[in-house]
Amino acid sequence: MNSYRIAVLPGDGIGLEVTQAALFVLRRAADAFGFSVSFRECPVGGSAIDLCGDPLPPETLDACKSSDAVLLGAVGGPKWEKSSRRPEQGLLALRAGLKLYGNLRPAVKKPFLAGLSPLRNDAGFDILIVRELTGGLYYGKRGRNSGPEGETAFDTLVYTGGEIERILRMGFAAAQTRRKRLTSVDKANVLDTSRLWRETAERLAPEYPDVTLSHMLVDNAAMQLVLAPEEFDVLVTENMFGDILSDEAGAVTGSIGLLPSASLGAPGTPGLFEPSHGSAPDIAGKDIANPSAAILSAAMLLDYSLNEHAAAKAVESAVWRALETPPLTADIAQDSASAIGTRAFAKKIADFI
Ligand code: IPM
Ligand code: MG
Repeated sequence: MNSYRIAVLPGDGIGLEVTQAALFVLRRAADAFGFSVSFRECPVGGSAIDLCGDPLPPETLDACKSSDAVLLGAVGGPKWEKSSRRPEQGLLALRAGLKLYGNLRPAVKKPFLAGLSPLRNDAGFDILIVRELTGGLYYGKRGRNSGPEGETAFDTLVYTGGEIERILRMGFAAAQTRRKRLTSVDKANVLDTSRLWRETAERLAPEYPDVTLSHMLVDNAAMQLVLAPEEFDVLVTENMFGDILSDEAGAVTGSIGLLPSASLGAPGTPGLFEPSHGSAPDIAGKDIANPSAAILSAAMLLDYSLNEHAAAKAVESAVWRALETPPLTADIAQDSASAIGTRAFAKKIADFI
């Protein structure tokens, strides 16, 4: 029997509840598909700052490195807004420490959930954003100076050709498993990094003859995501653009509580799986958060890091089946009186496996 070690980083706020829900479903999937999972819980984010003053304690990073995969809840909250070390630094350090250069963010609008979307059009869509995650503005040289002209601040957007090539390859490969359309998003009318990005995409395209590559400027991409999201299959883009566009793509599905994500590095290294939503401190500890995104993230974990593809499919379909009929969690329930809690909804999902 295959057995896997998973590092579990609940983090802050609803992160605790939604990861518990995901573990419940993972255990059920393991029983049903004949493999075993062991979980090792480690602190990250604000709760790690409280515990030891460090949003990513070295022991947590080591535990992640020696696991098959990492499941994370959410980090952050008002409590740490003014602290000198911020919970988000833990997440950025984790991405860098595990060399997770590619971030997959699916944004799916199912026709039966169309009513949740802020868009009038009730067409469904199925988009995958492939975001570069360990380069660009987030990790370039930055600083503040004061001089004769007063204060200045700077952040640097740098990419090596190698960094661009590996994320584009991830985008092409993802498109090959889907509807074979790759939109590379850049700002090549202004930025040199984007011009190198575009040239690299053109150079790689002949290696993926089954994929149709197109280029789109990021401002236009932001507009098209609202006007015609159903036109997109896979979008590949740099770190900052991907941060912004993935929130937008998530918002137009109408249900931020349903969006998972996977952060991946070189093959054979542990991936990090987390819901796209934040720690929602206002509803934390009340057993009302929607665990769907965390559970869909667990499905991606089964798929990408454990290669348990059948179990991954079963978990994913179980989530969509559970979402198709009431009772639902309060964020998506038609009438709040019939809403059920985090734990009960996780059980409903597990029962569909
Ligand atoms: C995300 C978040 C993070 C990011 C923050 C919390 C640092 O917005 O995962 O999209 O900007 O990458
Ligand atoms: Mg973001």
